[in-house]
Amino acid sequence: MTDRIAVYPGSFDPLTNGHLDILARARRLADRVIIAILDQDQKTPLFTVEERMEMIREIVGGDTSIAVASFTGLLVEFTKSVGATIIVRGLRAVSDYEYELQMALMNRRLAPGIETVFLMAKEEYSYVSSRLVKELARLGGDVTGLVPNPVRLRLADRF
Ligand code: PNS
Repeated sequence: MTDRIAVYPGSFDPLTNGHLDILARARRLADRVIIAILDQDQKTPLFTVEERMEMIREIVGGDTSIAVASFTGLLVEFTKSVGATIIVRGLRAVSDYEYELQMALMNRRLAPGIETVFLMAKEEYSYVSSRLVKELARLGGDVTGLVPNPVRLRLADRF
């Protein structure tokens, strides 16, 4: 049987412990998970795509079932190009749902063979977002426990 491959897309600017929790859950559904970082996003990122890829490799590098890539253009095209059939997204509060539903339905219209799967992170990460982590770090707050250590160190460097 061929490997079941999932793509876990996002900005990951930076990766949080919430992302890592979703990743571990995605790993239970698929043989291989490809973390796909959107390049050329409209938003101005704190970390370059290369920096984000480097950090993530440092964190998950030991696990051969997880790969890190960047992509431009449509997510479904990238997903097809790597032979994946699942797109994984994390859901936190109800506020995430509307945007996620629209994206999942648009992606389904574009590529009916690809299924979007929503996973819920541990409750303790339900309020953790890259945006709030960056704000906390910028204002001198402690991000320990919210992000993996390599991210914490890079945030400390940056601010
Ligand atoms: O972490 P984010 O910023 O919520 O991730 C959003 C992401 C990267 C998953 C989304 O913006 C995306 O897939 N962008 C690529 C363009 C695309 O395919 N859009 C959806 C159909 S129009």
